[in-house]
Amino acid sequence: MILILLGPPGAGKGTQTAALVKNYQLTPISTGDIFRANLAANTPLGLEAKNYMSQGLLAPDDLVVRLVADRLSQPNPTKGYLLDGFPRTVFQAEALEKMLAEKNQKVGVCLLLDIPDNELMVRLTGRRVCRSCGSVWHLTFSPPPADLKCQCGGEIYQRDDDGEAAASNRLKVYQAQTQPVATWYQDRGLLRAVSASGTPEAVEKSISEALAGAF
Ligand code: AP5
Repeated sequence: MILILLGPPGAGKGTQTAALVKNYQLTPISTGDIFRANLAANTPLGLEAKNYMSQGLLAPDDLVVRLVADRLSQPNPTKGYLLDGFPRTVFQAEALEKMLAEKNQKVGVCLLLDIPDNELMVRLTGRRVCRSCGSVWHLTFSPPPADLKCQCGGEIYQRDDDGEAAASNRLKVYQAQTQPVATWYQDRGLLRAVSASGTPEAVEKSISEALAGAF
């Protein structure tokens, strides 16, 4: 099963990934996490992505498509993949369709996390993340430890692209370049939408209802 998790920056894709991976035995592929890990390790890929990410712009399609194709070509012992943050353009959706067709596979569901814009800036600017293990907190909704030290020992920090300017740019980029991806999957009968406005637990419940019968 290939499950796509689609939604604007801050909708809660990363937050819902852990439960989805566990409940449906999927291997997660988060293009944003892959870029951040490469950035932290100063690899050529990380350095190439850095300028785009810090401005809230998308990395070039061909770069992202190569990266995902590489991940999908590796052995996978689980029941499928959860794609978080990919595809983000219609070009990427078409490329994914082609690479899956070569393996006789196809997307099962594109799950859209739907949430009003005014909630997104609050979620993005208040987010704090562990530099080491990637755990996520929110200053208001799930406050991090006061000393900003994660349980794993890592430093808790604010992502460069969660400042006001970059976050607001990311929302504009989402509307212009990623919203058409939802329509693309809707036209193919693969889109299921849930409200991402409630508590994380309420969103998880809505997701499991929306996915009933899909696995
Ligand atoms: P990426 O890392 O994918 O960022 P994003 O899509 O902008 O998503 P976020 O990680 O910001 O948000 P999220 O939905 O995961 O929210 P979260 O669960 O953390 O991409 C970063 C960059 O990489 C891109 O801008 C681009 O440059 C590049 N990139 C990546 N993929 C690419 C691609 N395919 N093509 C081109 N470029 C690409 O939650 C947010 C906050 O809200 C947290 O603090 C959390 O605690 C809180 N929260 C979550 N759910 C709830 C809830 N229900 N109630 C209250 N608070 C909540």
